[in-house]
Amino acid sequence: MTGVEPGLTLIAAVDENLLLATAEGIPWKLPDDVTHFRTYCAGKWLLMGRRTFEEMTGWFKPDQHPLVLTSACGVDPHPARCVASVPQALALAGTAGQEELVCIGGGQTFAASLPYATQLVITHVHHAFTPGLRPVYFPAIDAALWVPVSRQEHDIDEAHAWKFDIVEYERQSR
Ligand SMILES: NC(=O)c1ccc[n+]([C@@H]2O[C@H](COP(=O)([O-])OP(=O)(O)OC[C@H]3O[C@@H](n4cnc5c(N)ncnc54)[C@H](OP(=O)(O)O)[C@@H]3O)[C@@H](O)[C@H]2O)c1
Repeated sequence: MTGVEPGLTLIAAVDENLLLATAEGIPWKLPDDVTHFRTYCAGKWLLMGRRTFEEMTGWFKPDQHPLVLTSACGVDPHPARCVASVPQALALAGTAGQEELVCIGGGQTFAASLPYATQLVITHVHHAFTPGLRPVYFPAIDAALWVPVSRQEHDIDEAHAWKFDIVEYERQSR
């Protein structure tokens, strides 16, 4: 590999129990958080699981570089490239000179990515939603390992039915 291995950021929105989604999808609508997500991801290399990629068809902008994690990596799924592992995704982004790769989910892919992550950007929604039959969760955030370095609070208003905080965490150096 040429280049330096990029940092890996995981960006997610979770409820009070780390719920990411139910069988019906993400159970909250928070426009300002969507804007935050779009702004953070603009122009970046993105890593996502095959299921999340299929849900996001048509979302990617020409200056973004989506990488799709799948155990059946063969033909690249337009407009993305497929990868078979998180280290392969990091190596590709590093070879392209990227300083950051952003993992955007979902649950399986966050779990596979967390051991390699250097930063977490987590929207904590202040509510416990009903998980239903097929809930998807973000993995546990070990407070001994992940230090909050910034917090942006958002109150309830006419467009946002739940209070939420956007918290950036950095990995504690060992
Ligand atoms: N709240 C949020 O912030 C947020 C963010 C993103 C997504 N979501 C939600 O999360 C849900 C999807 O999450 P999910 O866990 O079901 O699926 P996912 O992580 O998006 O995709 C799962 C697929 O990724 C591949 N994969 C995962 N880990 C792998 C590994 N270690 N090696 C190789 N391939 C691997 C497999 O693809 P193959 O089957 O092709 O092998 C697997 O079936 C959706 O409901 C979505 O709306 C929520």
